[in-house]
Amino acid sequence: MAVIDIARAMAQVEQNGFLDIDIDPTLDLFQAIEKLKKEKNAVILAHYYQDPDIQEIADYIGDSLGLAQAAKTTDADIILFAGVHFMAETAKILNPGKKVILPDLKAGCSLSDSAPPPVFAKWKEQYPDHIVVTYINCSAGMKALSDIICTSSNAKAIIDSLPADQKIIFAPDKNLGAYLNKITGRNMVLWNGACMVHEIFSLEKITKLKLRHPEAKFIAHPECEEAVLRIADFIGSTTQLLRFTQTDAAEAFIIGTETGILHEMQKASPHKTFIPAPPNNSCACNECPHMKLNTLEKVYLCLQHEVPTLEMDEELRLAALKPIERMMEISQAAGLIGK
Ligand code: 13P
Ligand code: SF4
Repeated sequence: MAVIDIARAMAQVEQNGFLDIDIDPTLDLFQAIEKLKKEKNAVILAHYYQDPDIQEIADYIGDSLGLAQAAKTTDADIILFAGVHFMAETAKILNPGKKVILPDLKAGCSLSDSAPPPVFAKWKEQYPDHIVVTYINCSAGMKALSDIICTSSNAKAIIDSLPADQKIIFAPDKNLGAYLNKITGRNMVLWNGACMVHEIFSLEKITKLKLRHPEAKFIAHPECEEAVLRIADFIGSTTQLLRFTQTDAAEAFIIGTETGILHEMQKASPHKTFIPAPPNNSCACNECPHMKLNTLEKVYLCLQHEVPTLEMDEELRLAALKPIERMMEISQAAGLIGK
């Protein structure tokens, strides 16, 4: 293994969020990463929004619920989390004894950033008789202020499990919250946060695309705005969207979520056509800039040197664990995850 100057590496991570060390350009990174995984008993957990190369070297690819479950049950010594910071935090909260490493510490999330814990704590004081259901896309600090965590695959089951007269605050995603209010008949108080990727889809362009491809079904993630969801043929988490494209008879789909998922969709159904839903301008804004900070090179360096690591204060971890455990219990009772 290459010897690195630890002090320099730490300074680099502090400044850039990742290790920036030259890699031999002739090195086969796929092979090298596989070798390191075996040597170190490491597992790579990746979200569907990761670059296709990273999905290819992952041991498990999934949505937030699947990834949390995989992080909880792995017997690896090291978890390399290829996703964003709040996802690696969740893995650490569930697995304090394991080393959790992530390719780029600065891979954040606009939705998570939209709910700073001290501001949320003050705001929720207005609603003393409400319980707080929080979407997993938030910081450990926000989780610690919550009663139950949910993901897009179990949110409905979690809300349905609460008494009908229970008052609820839902944070941080106002779009997912509004969608859940609609399908559960609740009137949850919503925090005003949103995902920069899912908010950017253009209703007008998707409508035009549907006219050009009448054979295609439009499927969308519930983080999209209400007007976009209204024209969707199916709404679900990333895993649910992927499954839908595998089981539905349609041969073409317009995909209203981050484009990374098209890789698995195309792999699972090579004969079908997948069209990314267009954003409302000419940028590639349907790609998450945070997710895409991770690269195969950063994965390799992170696994080789085991930095950056995810560290967490134990008091915060225990406070954030409670609402995640409630989520796991309800999901298990609803048959959404195994033991
Ligand atoms: P899921 O994969 O759980 O549907 O979440 C989507 C997302 O935005 C993750 O950042
Ligand atoms: Fe956050 Fe949206 Fe990126 Fe998911 S896609 S990590 S919610 S900014």
